[in-house]
Amino acid sequence: MSVAVLLLLGLGLLEAEGRRNRCYFNRTQESCVCYNLSEETAGSIIQCLAATVVEFQGGDLEKYIAFPIRDLDSSAIETLDSLIVQKIIIANVLVPEILLARVLRFFSYTHVQELAFKSCIFQGSGDWSDMDGQTLPIRSLSFHNVTSAPLTGQEQAFSSLSRWMEVLEELNVTSSHVTNLPCAVGRALGALRSLDLAQNSFGDGSLSPTFCQGAFPQLQELSLHHNNLRSYHSVCEGLQLLPQLQHLDLSHNSLVAEPSSSCLWRASLRHLNLSNAGLDNVHNHLHAVDISLSSLKKLFLSQNLLQAVPSIRNYPVLDTLHLDNNSISELPRDELKLLRRLQDVAMADNPFSCSCSGAGGLQALAAGGHLGQDWPNGYRCQSPAQYQGWPVAQVPVSVLRCDPAAVAAPVCVALALLVLLGPRWALWSLS
Ligand SMILES: *[C@@H]1O[C@H](CO)[C@@H](O)[C@H](O)[C@H]1NC(C)=O
Ligand SMILES: *[C@@H]1O[C@H](CO)[C@@H](O)[C@H](O)[C@H]1NC(C)=O
Ligand SMILES: *[C@@H]1O[C@H](CO)[C@@H](O)[C@H](O)[C@H]1NC(C)=O
Ligand SMILES: *[C@@H]1O[C@H](CO)[C@@H](O)[C@H](O)[C@H]1NC(C)=O
Ligand SMILES: *[C@@H]1O[C@H](CO)[C@@H](O)[C@H](O)[C@H]1NC(C)=O
Ligand SMILES: *[C@@H]1O[C@H](CO)[C@@H](O)[C@H](O)[C@H]1NC(C)=O
Repeated sequence: MSVAVLLLLGLGLLEAEGRRNRCYFNRTQESCVCYNLSEETAGSIIQCLAATVVEFQGGDLEKYIAFPIRDLDSSAIETLDSLIVQKIIIANVLVPEILLARVLRFFSYTHVQELAFKSCIFQGSGDWSDMDGQTLPIRSLSFHNVTSAPLTGQEQAFSSLSRWMEVLEELNVTSSHVTNLPCAVGRALGALRSLDLAQNSFGDGSLSPTFCQGAFPQLQELSLHHNNLRSYHSVCEGLQLLPQLQHLDLSHNSLVAEPSSSCLWRASLRHLNLSNAGLDNVHNHLHAVDISLSSLKKLFLSQNLLQAVPSIRNYPVLDTLHLDNNSISELPRDELKLLRRLQDVAMADNPFSCSCSGAGGLQALAAGGHLGQDWPNGYRCQSPAQYQGWPVAQVPVSVLRCDPAAVAAPVCVALALLVLLGPRWALWSLS
């Protein structure tokens, strides 16, 4: 049912009655938490039979390294097969790799689809040859805040795990000080669709080796949120070999967009998150890469230093643009027209100048239902002085002040008519 049961079955310990209750089942969540993984957890694990998520909190498996691990008999296999658990979380556990390497294959008798390690320490290195040619039902694998020996030089392990790696669909390695992944890992992960590498130490130079030729051929979603990326150009270049990439999250990096960059994003890219990425001149940059972004649907640029709305003229299918908390004061008329084509625009927390184009434009966007949930409260005027701090929604915008051209034309016509008809009208009214 879990690494614990697997371990304990393997170790022949399941028969041992636990003296204390260490597993707790939560019926509403169909989840179960077991504390302090050890042979004493075993008797209590029966509590978790109806759980779809089982979490193991704490424990040290070091003392089991030397235990002989038997093959399972048919009744044990049947038990594993009947379990409904789909997700296993292992948290705050010291995991000797040698042990993991020997019990991992028992997962093939279960229906576990997700395996997550949180705040674990992987110790030593294992002999993974028991996994040769073996596949597992696990499709999603996640490591958060873990420590392990470096992955480089572990080609033997990847080769033993390759049957399974080639069917994995989701991999998360977050908050673990990772600086790169060996090229061989990406090549082995042939079916991977989603890769989350948030909060690590990837730098501009680590992208090309990780996303090398032939690596991650099916990857659609990639998060590099909160890493050490600096050069917009190098990032774009470093991700060129991902043929299927659709969603890219580069938020919370310190990017500098070199205006002269000629790098074109892959045409497959649909969603680009550059929120809080440190950009101040993406405006120019996006002009330079317009053509390659013709399939872009969603662009997230919140929390940057942009002074103007980036031109979206050449994004024919864009439907979402987020620009919250930048330094935008004006909405130029031409852009306003384009923005009205989008479904979801967000521009809260910008220093709006409540001239006609500022307030009137935003009010028109809001009236069309384009602005999201932060309208009206998140939109305030910074200038002119008389409206400073006002909600943009409350600034009066009269047609006369906002659009002199629109008003002038009919007024001129009316005046002209008056001039022409005036004398006659005067005559008629006198007669
Ligand atoms: C089960 O989980 C729900 C939702 O998190 C929580 O409100 C409830 O208190 C939990 N029940 C027990 C018995 O812990
Ligand atoms: C787990 O073990 C630690 C120390 O080994 C102990 O302090 C804690 O009470 C144990 N937790 C449970 C739920 O048994
Ligand atoms: C990360 O994991 C270590 C154990 O390896 C733990 O001591 C630490 O509290 C964890 N940090 C967070 C933020 O969870
Ligand atoms: C992996 O990361 C993705 C995207 O951040 C997230 O949606 C998913 O829930 C994570 N999976 C696991 C098993 O933690
Ligand atoms: C983009 O990144 C920001 C900052 O990390 C986050 O708040 C936001 O939810 C992300 N947007 C999407 C659609 O992923
Ligand atoms: C807006 O962005 C600045 C930095 O660009 C940051 O210091 C501030 O906390 C952000 N404000 C909000 C409301 O997110």
